[in-house]
Amino acid sequence: MADVEFDHVSKIYDNGFMAVNELSLRIDDGEFLVLVGPSGCGKSTALRMVAGLEDISEGELRIDNERMNEVQPRERDIAMVFQSYALYPHLTVAENIGFGLTLRKMPKQEINARVRKAAATLGLVDLLERRPKMLSGGQRQRVAMGRAIVREPKVFLMDEPLSNLDAKLRVQMRAEIAKLQHDMGITTVYVTHDQVEAMTMADRVAVMRRGVLQQVDTPYELYDRPANLFVAGFIGSPAMNLLAGRVSVASGQVSVRIGDQTLDIAPAAVAAYPELADANGRDVTMGIRPEFFTFPAEQADPGQRLEIMIDLVESTGSETHVHFALPVAPVDTDDTRDLAEHAGDTVPEKATSTVVVAKLDGLARVRLADRISLGVNTGRCHFFDAATGAPLR
Ligand SMILES: Nc1ncnc2c1ncn2[C@@H]1O[C@H](COP(=O)(O)OP(=O)(O)OP(=O)(O)O)[C@@H](O)[C@H]1O
Ligand SMILES: [Mg+2]
Repeated sequence: MADVEFDHVSKIYDNGFMAVNELSLRIDDGEFLVLVGPSGCGKSTALRMVAGLEDISEGELRIDNERMNEVQPRERDIAMVFQSYALYPHLTVAENIGFGLTLRKMPKQEINARVRKAAATLGLVDLLERRPKMLSGGQRQRVAMGRAIVREPKVFLMDEPLSNLDAKLRVQMRAEIAKLQHDMGITTVYVTHDQVEAMTMADRVAVMRRGVLQQVDTPYELYDRPANLFVAGFIGSPAMNLLAGRVSVASGQVSVRIGDQTLDIAPAAVAAYPELADANGRDVTMGIRPEFFTFPAEQADPGQRLEIMIDLVESTGSETHVHFALPVAPVDTDDTRDLAEHAGDTVPEKATSTVVVAKLDGLARVRLADRISLGVNTGRCHFFDAATGAPLR
C-alpha cells in the first residue's frame, strides 16, 4: 500500500526543453489516477520519473512520504506496463510472467504459486504453456499485466498499455484493468492520450498540457466544472462547441449574442459563472456541449432557441448528430489551436462561420438542409474569457 506525491516536480531535458513544469499532485493509496493530455504534453516523462527511469530536475517525488529522487528504480517497488509489452518469444506464458521473479532469484515454488495466482486472475490458466506467437493481442496484453502483478508491487505504472489493441478489445481490456486494479487495491498511475479511456477508468483524472497540470478531479467534476477552456474542449465526445459571443445584461437577465441570434442564459449558469452578472458588453467564449441541445424546441423557452439549417446528419441508431454552421468566426486562441491539433482538425484560415454539433435523440426526424429550431439548455453552458480562456467564476 502506498501513496505517490509529486511536489513541484520539473523535468528539463539536456537540450533545455522543460517537459514537465512544477507538477504537484498527490495520488492516494489504492487510487486509480489517469494522466491524460495531447501528444508531447509530458505524460510519459512524469511517469518515468516515478519509475526512476528519468532523473528529476527539480522538486521532490515521494512514495509513502519518502523521498525517491535518488532511489534506484529496482528499489522503488514499482511495476510498469508499457505500450509495447515485449514478451520473450522463446519463453512460455508462465516463464514470461515469472521472468522478473526468476531474475530476483525467488525460490521456484514461490514463483510457481504467484504465476498460477496471476494467471487465474487474468484468465490465462489454460495458456500457461503456450508461446507468445500463439496468443491474440488481448492475451499478450494480459501476459504483460501478469508480469506486473506477480511482482506484488506498491505501485503500478501503465503507459498507454492498450494502444496496440483494436477498438473493441481496447474497450473490453479497459474494463478488465479497471476491475483488476479495484480488486487488488494497488495505487496506479495510468497514462493515455484518449480522454474517453481516462474518464471511464479513473477515480481521478489529471489533465496536462505543455508540461503543465491543468486540473485534477473526478471524471464528473472535469465534465461539469472544467477549470479552463482547454479542459472544457478536451473532455467530452463529441467535443464541447465553443462559440464567440458578447454578453449583455438588462434588468437582471444575462444574454449572449452569437452572430445574429441571442440566447438568454438560465440562472443556473449565472450561479456557476457569477462573473456573468456584471459582464455587460464583455466578449466571451460560450461552451455548449452537444448533448445540451434539445429537439423539438417547443419545450424550450423562446429566448433559449437557435434557428439553424442542417449541414450534415450522422445517425448511430441511438443518437443523431446534427452539424450546422453559425455565422461567427471560430474561436482562435492557443487553446483552440492545441485542441484542433489533438483532434486532427485543421482550423481554416479566416473562416467566418463556426461548425456546431448537436447530439439529438436517435428518433429525431431531421434531414439535410432542414431549417429547424433547436432548444439550448443554457443553464448547463460554460463561459470563459475570450482572450485568456479563464472561467468566468
Ligand atoms: N530525451 C529527450 N530530450 C529532449 N526532449 C525530450 C526527450 N524526451 C522527450 N522529450 C520531449 O518532451 C516532451 C514530452 O514528452 P513525453 O514523451 O513525456 O510526452 P507524452 O505526453 O508522453 O506524449 P505521447 O502522448 O506522444 O506519448 C515532448 O515534447 C518530447 O519531444
Ligand atoms: Mg508518452
